[in-house]
Amino acid sequence: MKVATHHLRCTECGAVITGSAVNSIFRCPDCNGLYDVIYPWSPATGSSEANNHNLPNASALRWLWQERRTSTLPIDQSGVWRFRDLFPIVEDPANIVTLREGNTPLYDLPRCAKAVGLDSLLAKHQGMNPTGSFKDTGMTAALSVAADRKFEWVACASTGNTSAAMAAYAARAGLRSIVFIPEGKIAWGKLSQSMDYGALTIQLKTDFDGCVRILTDLVTRFPIYLLNSVNPYRLEGQKTPAFEILEQLEWQVPDHIVVPGGNLANSSALGKGFMEMHRLGLISRIPKISIIQAEGANPLYRWYMDSNRIMRPVTADTRATAIRIGNPASWRKAANVIDKLGGWCEQVSEQEIALAKAQIGAEGVGCEPASAVTFAGLKKLVALGKVTREERVVLILTGHTLKDSQYTIDYHRGELLTEAENAQISAEDQALHAALRKPPIVLEPDSDVVLHALESHMKLAQPV
Ligand code: F0G
Repeated sequence: MKVATHHLRCTECGAVITGSAVNSIFRCPDCNGLYDVIYPWSPATGSSEANNHNLPNASALRWLWQERRTSTLPIDQSGVWRFRDLFPIVEDPANIVTLREGNTPLYDLPRCAKAVGLDSLLAKHQGMNPTGSFKDTGMTAALSVAADRKFEWVACASTGNTSAAMAAYAARAGLRSIVFIPEGKIAWGKLSQSMDYGALTIQLKTDFDGCVRILTDLVTRFPIYLLNSVNPYRLEGQKTPAFEILEQLEWQVPDHIVVPGGNLANSSALGKGFMEMHRLGLISRIPKISIIQAEGANPLYRWYMDSNRIMRPVTADTRATAIRIGNPASWRKAANVIDKLGGWCEQVSEQEIALAKAQIGAEGVGCEPASAVTFAGLKKLVALGKVTREERVVLILTGHTLKDSQYTIDYHRGELLTEAENAQISAEDQALHAALRKPPIVLEPDSDVVLHALESHMKLAQPV
């Protein structure tokens, strides 16, 4: 008899089912809760110390993961599947769909560190994935499960990055994909990707939350595999950056991870990764995880500040369109991560996001607006004394700067914010904006004119 490699456990009522028994909306039929994938080493399974001898060996795993870096096998070259020992979710490895995702850089941001008053600051750039966002790490996992379970159609509702990733991985696997996106409310770069990769793209005249409602209904009426982050297999791939960060820091545990919060799955995926490493003895402590939301899309922040801890969906609005989400599916998982690991939730304004994005860009790194909320939020955590100078902090940059080039162009041309928004910026931040803004200069093709412009620019230019 085949032994199941994993189970699904309802995060609300604790009911455990086999992976193949899950319904099409990935919700518990008894309590509507979301599932987590569990293994013998999952902290939640409560395996006793006596069972420890059945668990994978920490040093053997570290050695194996390092060793695979020199292999030419596609699944070894993937920075997700290299860690496959900790997410045995696919029965036939031939069904694994990989674009060699993961293996993303961990950059230092010395100028941002100085600006915020920290000794150092790190950024794990998940925008350096094949389709330009962290979604690839989850999509390779869940789409491989779809292929393994012989689905022909896959679908997601998205603010743009999930759809880009899903379309690409579905195309690689030869599956058919349907994307539901809010009309007019996603960045063009992302919309173009789902078309490029051949998805059926449906723009619904609603917001992201409305798209989720329609798709949730559809999957109960048509055999489509749902690839939104309620699908717990997505999170199994999205936990692997936690392993990579530890490898990149030579297994020295950082103090604090800062993530943007939208539908709120990524924060919980990273938390799961760190908790499983801890359970296996790969690390001796777990970093705090803080979640940052845009002020205009802040249901978790409101929950966090509410003494009764009630989640109330909001009508979302922010220029950081990736996280323009008012009714986040995974909020309870994210809330658990904050409560268990001891991080915080913060919100940041449109002005703060724009400044943080320009500061990250000026380090030669760049990211999309939704990623920049991490640095904007970190400034608040430092100001509140929640993060101290010597702590080792890692920002998770979730998307590539080219995902939303219109935002960047509007910012540098001074066309992003309204007059009213500009008027609220402090004099200190106004000066930073002025030094960071680099609008293109239009000149006649005459070298004297160009030279003159260069001279006046050099007089003005101040290092930021
Ligand atoms: N950053 C970026 C660039 C994103 O695209 C998203 C989510 C998030 C942060 C938030 O992550 O939802 O796990 O809290 N984008 C989804 C999408 C919703 O459809 O692409 P989360």
